[in-house]
Amino acid sequence: MIIGSISENKNFENRVAITPDIIKKYKSLGLEVHLSKDYASHLGIEDKVYETEGANIYTNDEEIILNSNAILQMSIPSDEKLNKFKKDQILIGVLNPYLNEKKLKEITSRNVKCFSLELLPRITRAQSMDILSSQANLAGYKAVVDSFAYFKKAIPMMMTAAGTISAAKVLVVGAGVAGLQAIATAKRMGAIVFATDVRLASKEQVESLGGKFLTVEGSENLETEGGYAKEASEEFKKKQEDLLKETLKKIDIIICTALIPGKKAPIIIKKDMIEVMQSGSVIYDLAASQGGNSELTKVNEVIDKNGVKIMGETNILNKLPVSASNLYAKNMFNFISNLFDKDKKNFVINLEDEIIEKTKVK
Ligand code: NAI
Repeated sequence: MIIGSISENKNFENRVAITPDIIKKYKSLGLEVHLSKDYASHLGIEDKVYETEGANIYTNDEEIILNSNAILQMSIPSDEKLNKFKKDQILIGVLNPYLNEKKLKEITSRNVKCFSLELLPRITRAQSMDILSSQANLAGYKAVVDSFAYFKKAIPMMMTAAGTISAAKVLVVGAGVAGLQAIATAKRMGAIVFATDVRLASKEQVESLGGKFLTVEGSENLETEGGYAKEASEEFKKKQEDLLKETLKKIDIIICTALIPGKKAPIIIKKDMIEVMQSGSVIYDLAASQGGNSELTKVNEVIDKNGVKIMGETNILNKLPVSASNLYAKNMFNFISNLFDKDKKNFVINLEDEIIEKTKVK
């Protein structure tokens, strides 16, 4: 059996689905690995490194697609490449089924089996495959590093003979996976960190990392059974707004990560709230691709509002593609180990398995 991976469109995606250290693991499952020429050379990983680990390199992507039982990618391949897929082949990646509904309908109607890893259920057995967590964790870290680089003052408190520099104050909006890593990173660098979330369970997690949780008084817990956020009521939003408006006067950096699955990101930092912030402050909006948590966020732009810089980052993981690929490649391998039956030496699509059923694009 053969698994293949073709080069991603490097204009949009720097990450790769297969890293050299995983090749031996695939081989021990009984799988051959076929890759495009210069597969990860943009990451400083030459083809010969993959070949040494046992992968085969091909110059022609079509040849890889035609010979592979499963194609493992980061993003959905181009239409031209998708047209080459045949019946019973498998395609796995972050296929974005809502955005790519039409393309996926076409290819699944030809009996190509597609699996989209962002649909993985958040169950214990799927944790090692959870690409949302592995990538969000890195995004939370990088958002802090980037915003600190942008900020024109030092972050930790420093007492020097020339006087004292006070510690920067950071607010993290949304304390899920990305937010908690942002809190931990900002704390480690010496910032004073505040956080807000609609899920009450996150209070304890924020506090365990040394953050101060801003509790919206008298609010109900807006958490679904799956652990995600529900949309907040108008009353909650008003209370949260009043609480944040007061806090924002002293905040230097805001890291926005609040999301509601399947919905536009909630607007939490309104225009009039930005007006009370000090000039020189930075808002780093990781929710930009879902519309942003700040009212003034523009995708992939830096907006200046009275000296407050608002950054709408959409593909932050391209800024640390090696780490992101390493984690993604491990998540992918764990997914394949569950899908591939070593004894039958074949991929077995068992729809009784929640992991397989939920990720399969219908
Ligand atoms: P997410 O990316 O969907 O949202 C980020 C955060 O924004 C969430 O904490 C959410 O509550 C918050 N949020 C939404 N609306 C908000 C608002 N109006 N104001 C403030 N905050 C708002 O969430 P993520 O990071 O994917 O995590 C969701 C949950 O899943 C968490 O409880 C996490 O612990 C859990 N989880 C469970 C895993 C498992 O395997 N059991 C793995 C990873 C996460």
